[in-house]
Amino acid sequence: MSQQDDGVTGGVLIVDFGAQYCQLIARRVRELGVYSRITVPERAMFTAKHMQPKAVILSGGPRSVYAADAPALDAGLLQLGVPVLGICYGLQWLAQNTQGEVTPAESGAEYGRTELYVEDAQGLLAGVRSGGIVWMSHGDKVAQLGPGFEVLAKSDPCPFAVVGDRSRGFYGLQFHPEVQHSEDGGRILQNFVVDIAGCDTDWNPGNLAERKVKAVEELCGSDGEVVMGLSGGVDSSVAAVLIHRAIGKRLHCVFVDNGLLRKGEREGVEELFRDHYKMDLKVVDARARFLGELAGVVDPEQKRKIIGRVFVEVFEEESKAFEKAHFLGQGTLYPDVIESVAAHGGATSTIKSHHNVGGLPEDMKMELVEPLRDLFKDEVRALGRELGLPSSLVDRQPFPGPGLAVRCMGEVALEKLEPLREADAILREEVESRDLQRGLWQYFAVYVPQKTVGVKGDARVYQDVCVVRIVSSQDAMTADWETLPVDVMRRVSNRILNEVDGFARVCLDISSKPPGTIEWE
Ligand code: XMP
Repeated sequence: MSQQDDGVTGGVLIVDFGAQYCQLIARRVRELGVYSRITVPERAMFTAKHMQPKAVILSGGPRSVYAADAPALDAGLLQLGVPVLGICYGLQWLAQNTQGEVTPAESGAEYGRTELYVEDAQGLLAGVRSGGIVWMSHGDKVAQLGPGFEVLAKSDPCPFAVVGDRSRGFYGLQFHPEVQHSEDGGRILQNFVVDIAGCDTDWNPGNLAERKVKAVEELCGSDGEVVMGLSGGVDSSVAAVLIHRAIGKRLHCVFVDNGLLRKGEREGVEELFRDHYKMDLKVVDARARFLGELAGVVDPEQKRKIIGRVFVEVFEEESKAFEKAHFLGQGTLYPDVIESVAAHGGATSTIKSHHNVGGLPEDMKMELVEPLRDLFKDEVRALGRELGLPSSLVDRQPFPGPGLAVRCMGEVALEKLEPLREADAILREEVESRDLQRGLWQYFAVYVPQKTVGVKGDARVYQDVCVVRIVSSQDAMTADWETLPVDVMRRVSNRILNEVDGFARVCLDISSKPPGTIEWE
């Protein structure tokens, strides 16, 4: 298994011309049960040779096909003998490489919704309504089609909204079928991928485990050893269990207790990975070191930087003990890979690894083992379930890398972390014991060092504020504030005020994102 080649053949190869929606195309295809893989134009032929795709989709992109810096894609891709669907820029590239003509749109760039008038409601457009809404976003247009192509649908500003050459299986869309606003977009993709290209619809991340295990075995050989940082989060846990299945005790996991973890987290990791899975797990108590480095620091970004740096230092020091380990295991996911490609551009960046699990030591000269690098988050969860990981881990709420440091306003100190940990544990217990976490993205406590007056027993106290933050979200980009049933809220508040020493008041954060962020720092 090379790190770029996940070993799957067939499915859809998606060439990324720099589209903002490229990941979405991959998602939509996978939702049809068809394997899809994104590659940059420079690597398309190489990837196609290994992958033997049944269809190719050319994505949109921000450039002009006739610009000097237009991405270079080998037109040999059109000789593979498989159907090709060009979307927006992809259509323009297809036109340009099949003797058509592309020019700037006369009326300037065209963005937003438009109605699609279907001329030929079969094949690619079978079941697609005429007059339905599609979503356009382009500055250039196809001015003339090459031989063999015909118009399958028009829109008001665009005479070549959908074109096709049935005999060669080449199709083009001037709009984006992958976005939700394109009403029959899913149908069009399905028609292309399943009916025209004949792709198998049995892709299922849940039955991946054996193939992944085999790939790790092959990569590591009979004596290769792997060291990896285990955070206790979903990604590194699933990756570790997979790698462990493949090479057993030749996997060495390092768990760094930075003192910023939630209550019971370290013990949970020890119990699951050391006691249950019998992994070689090294737990490093670096609490004092992290707190020492964070002393006096109040700026959130500064806190993040320090925590990232110290993690790398500790991990490097500790992993030296495994001198035979020439491989570094990581829980890198597909969106991380795509982002690092898009951010750096070009084929060389595809071998650059994403900084995961609190930061990868950059100058560590090790080969990477990243068994999840072709999977999306929910696919990793499905894989974790297949591997037998408990739901409490696979479905757990996200927890930021800098941990409680970004929930402890101002300077991070033990006197604040301890009550925060207790309050957070109470909230989690009250939510989870009633199974109220479904539909919630995150629920946690925040320490606000603002003195406020209270009465405890018969005495007046002057203590800090505990904020309860509960949010729902799809992807953390936007979020709504949430609450719990009143009796549960009352119990959370009573328990925090009575059982935790340090708070005189409990408040509920009722800010949505935007403008508020999910975390307080
Ligand atoms: P915000 O606060 O930006 O958070 O609305 C969005 C999501 O990202 C998580 N988050 C982080 N995760 N390192 C992480 O690994 C960080 O520094 C960090 N900051 C925020 C947050 O928990 C939420 O899920």
